[in-house]
Amino acid sequence: MGNQLRRAGITGVASYVPEKILTNQDLEKMVDTDDEWIKSRTGIEERRIAAEDTATSDLAYRAAEAALEEADLAAEELDLIIVATVTPDMVFPATACLVQDRLGAEKAAAFDLQAGCSGFVYALATATQFVKAGAYDNVLVIGAETLSKITNWEDRNTCILFGDGAGAAVVQVVESGGILANVLGADGSGGELLKVPAGGSRQPTTIETVQNELHYMQMEGNQVFKFAVRIMGKSALKSIEKAGLQREDIDFFIPHQANTRIINAAAKRLKLSEEQVFVNLDKYGNTSAASIPIALAEAVEAGRINKGDNIVLVGFGAGLTWAASTIEWI
Ligand code: COA
Repeated sequence: MGNQLRRAGITGVASYVPEKILTNQDLEKMVDTDDEWIKSRTGIEERRIAAEDTATSDLAYRAAEAALEEADLAAEELDLIIVATVTPDMVFPATACLVQDRLGAEKAAAFDLQAGCSGFVYALATATQFVKAGAYDNVLVIGAETLSKITNWEDRNTCILFGDGAGAAVVQVVESGGILANVLGADGSGGELLKVPAGGSRQPTTIETVQNELHYMQMEGNQVFKFAVRIMGKSALKSIEKAGLQREDIDFFIPHQANTRIINAAAKRLKLSEEQVFVNLDKYGNTSAASIPIALAEAVEAGRINKGDNIVLVGFGAGLTWAASTIEWI
């Protein structure tokens, strides 16, 4: 087979979330909010929170192990590991290298990719290129976050939204179907809308940055909301078209789990019924780069995606960024 004909597909997917549950009722005791407001404005009922001694690589490792098992692939066979995250264990080394070591994936290259909540789909698109080009046969793509560690638990505008978790997918050469099209985009002019201001080279950590709480995430929720509603349907349609398909050909939709109102607006634009859209943010909140692979793993496990189905994954997030993949499930 010539390299031009190589196809990439997802051969195994799995997720892992920490045990501790934080409910809306728990949050009522922490900030001025209430369960009804959170549910009606976001759809979220509870989220998972990593233990104090648990880092992003710990969650990533558990999801990775399970995904390898699903794909029936040994870690030693991996050529590349990509971890999409905005909450790495450390600035460096890359979280992907920590996961590589724990898995014993000796021959794998490893790097992190940062594209906010679009990170997993960005990483999936990257893996697709390596596989299609013939550079690698077996790639592990992980979306993993411990957003609780960069959340200001006194800020009701953000602390109700986010949670921790990880999802992983094995991308390999497949004979037919698989990942048909990827669409990636960015608009850096919206970078101010969602950020962690300090701790980087612009504002290195000092006592003052910590006292001013600049090491926590900050968000202009309303602006992000408008952007998300606009971009989700648009990028999904673009990837469907790029795959040579029509909107009607799509069987199942896995949107980034940020807000049910955003998801419903996108589903409407794509003319999808409720049964065709996967929603689990009631249980996990927004887990950023982990949200789409967790949703994908749960949808597959629940039997809602079958061989031959055309599915679309769509993410949006900090950057601003967006990304969509159209996949014929194998
Ligand atoms: N509990 C109760 N009231 C709250 C609240 C909370 N947790 N958070 C905000 N409010 C208040 C606001 O202070 C505001 O009050 P005011 O009108 O007196 O100023 C009011 O509720 C409405 O705020 P607004 O920001 O207009 O609400 P909204 O309908 O836009 O919903 C979000 C807020 C954050 C839920 C919504 O904007 C959103 O989901 N945005 C996208 C966020 C996102 O997805 N980010 C991640 C991207 S990957």
